[in-house]
Amino acid sequence: MKHRVQISESDDTFQVCAQETILEAALQAGIRLPHECTYGACGTCRVKLEQGSVHYDAFPMALTEAEHQQGYALICQAHADSDIVLSPSGGGLALPEPAVMQAVVQELHPLTPDIHHLVLRLPDDQEVFYLPGQHVNVRLPDRSERSFSMASAYPLGNEVDFHIRRVPGGRFTQDQLGRLMPGDTLEVELPRGAFCYHPDDWRPLVFAATGTGLAPIRAILESLLDDDDCPPVSLYWGMRTEADLYAREEIESWAGRLYEFNFVPVLSRADAHWQGRRGHVQDAIAQDFQDLSEYACYLCGSPPMVIDTKQVLMGLGAPLEFIYSDSFTFHQDEKNPVAA
Ligand SMILES: Cc1cc2nc3c(=O)[nH]c(=O)nc-3n(C[C@H](O)[C@H](O)[C@H](O)COP(=O)(O)OP(=O)(O)OC[C@H]3O[C@@H](n4cnc5c(N)ncnc54)[C@H](O)[C@@H]3O)c2cc1C
Ligand code: FES
Repeated sequence: MKHRVQISESDDTFQVCAQETILEAALQAGIRLPHECTYGACGTCRVKLEQGSVHYDAFPMALTEAEHQQGYALICQAHADSDIVLSPSGGGLALPEPAVMQAVVQELHPLTPDIHHLVLRLPDDQEVFYLPGQHVNVRLPDRSERSFSMASAYPLGNEVDFHIRRVPGGRFTQDQLGRLMPGDTLEVELPRGAFCYHPDDWRPLVFAATGTGLAPIRAILESLLDDDDCPPVSLYWGMRTEADLYAREEIESWAGRLYEFNFVPVLSRADAHWQGRRGHVQDAIAQDFQDLSEYACYLCGSPPMVIDTKQVLMGLGAPLEFIYSDSFTFHQDEKNPVAA
């Protein structure tokens, strides 16, 4: 039996049958909806069900029970139980169309022993546009993809930059990145993803990042510098040691340029000299806030941090529709091939 799915913002419709996920059916019908991992781990494909209901073969990791109860669904895993009307996660924001292009390595230098700053130059004849918070997908020689978030609010000319952490055994970040030289080319697709700032929320902001999860949040914050409409901003950045805080000075220098800016580095393996906060970002937020019902929250970094922090925020009353997250999930060979 087939069900009808309607996208509320665009009035696009398509049919979905019982054995396909809603995302598979949408792509089959030529309708692009934000997605990334396709295995229920990143949360990029989250939608709000305005009508209808869904079920899962296995309940996805990136969805909380509370989100499910409140009508949110991850369409890369969801099967329709009825006709559906859904609202995609970009909400009313118009997400730019991604394009595949050849990027040239412009610059690569270490920020810490295991984090690199990579600058890519995109073709001069391509107009480069993305929303701060979005990411690029790098295509590897085996045609699998790796995602990295743009670390700046806007491209500088046709250059885009990234903070990339070396993953031990990682095919791109360990094997390929270390050998890249200026002038080398990479095939990339951008802009991807739906993680971006929602100015119409008009709420004070809490950002939580771990590791290079700072990159898209840095881009969003840079876009808010000297903005008269900037709401009060708190940023919690979790790292292991003080030496890992590669962007600390720059972010501290934004104190006068973001409204009521409260920057809180949180270290999980600080040495005895560290005077600042210790532990995990979600614990620091729980210590500092009693009620987040009037806030909008943005989370980015490791999947466990995103899941735990979401639970903490909900416990403090943060409404789900104002919690935005970008989970740095990993590539999975069998689940995420790029169509040849
Ligand atoms: C939307 C999005 C944006 C991202 N943006 C960034 C970014 O800006 N900067 C950044 O550094 N990373 C980012 N990531 C994470 C990055 O895409 C992955 O870490 C990627 O898999 C690394 O590729 P690799 O080829 O080096 O490792 P792989 O060959 O894919 O992985 C090798 C092994 O390491 C494990 N692994 C991979 N990544 C990690 C990790 N991060 N932590 C622990 N284990 C891991 C894998 O499960 C595998 O076993 C982002 C991910 C997503 C989904
Ligand atoms: S694309 Fe659905 S959770 Fe990642």
